Amino acid sequence: MTRPSIVVMAGSSRRDSFARRLAHACLEPLSQIGADVQLIELGDYPMPLYNGDLERDSGLPDAAVALQQRLYSSDGVLVVNPEYNGSITPLLKNTLDWCSRPNPKDEPRSGGAVFAGRAAAVLATSPGPMGGMRVLFHVRDILGYLGMHVIPQQLGVGNAGSAFADDGRLANERQQGMLDAALGALVHAAGRLAPESR
Ligand SMILES: Cc1cc2nc3c(=O)[nH]c(=O)nc-3n(C[C@H](O)[C@H](O)[C@H](O)COP(=O)(O)O)c2cc1C
Repeated sequence: MTRPSIVVMAGSSRRDSFARRLAHACLEPLSQIGADVQLIELGDYPMPLYNGDLERDSGLPDAAVALQQRLYSSDGVLVVNPEYNGSITPLLKNTLDWCSRPNPKDEPRSGGAVFAGRAAAVLATSPGPMGGMRVLFHVRDILGYLGMHVIPQQLGVGNAGSAFADDGRLANERQQGMLDAALGALVHAAGRLAPESR
């Protein structure tokens, strides 16, 4: 079986973002488990706030088209979330909204086709003790609405300021074990959902 392709993205573009840190901590384990991993920095895909007039007059932003193509060629997505007021960040929601729109110039690789039938996993992290647990249910719902198969395994890493060891892994070995299990389940699901079954 070919290595399933997993796109990893964090819902923050902040330089010292904990979500970006957790996303980075997932790259090596995903690769070791057998995935072909691509990290996507949403800061490299700037998009205006979605507005239907803008879409009608100018079409999709170039960044949305580029991201759609990367998502389309993936078998699964790992979304690492900060929690804003119990829910997802505007950066992530805006990105998902633009990417969910059809592109008449690239119809087969746009809109719902970039999400549907693929595997997804959701993680969260926060400086607070709850680890962003509340955002997990919101983002899981949205990805499911987009037609993704969101695996049940999830993790909220609390007290993010002290959660990472110097080598970038989680300092708590039990928590690292839970992360590895979730990543393993994602790679397994992505492999099972490879293109022939979409
Ligand atoms: C608008 C806003 C709302 C927030 N709401 C929450 C929240 O509901 N729960 C929480 O744990 N932290 C909340 N925080 C704190 C964030 O968890 C913290 O700023 C975190 O570092 C942001 O993620 P990042 O480090 O990946 O950029 C909020 C921060 C902002 C700016």
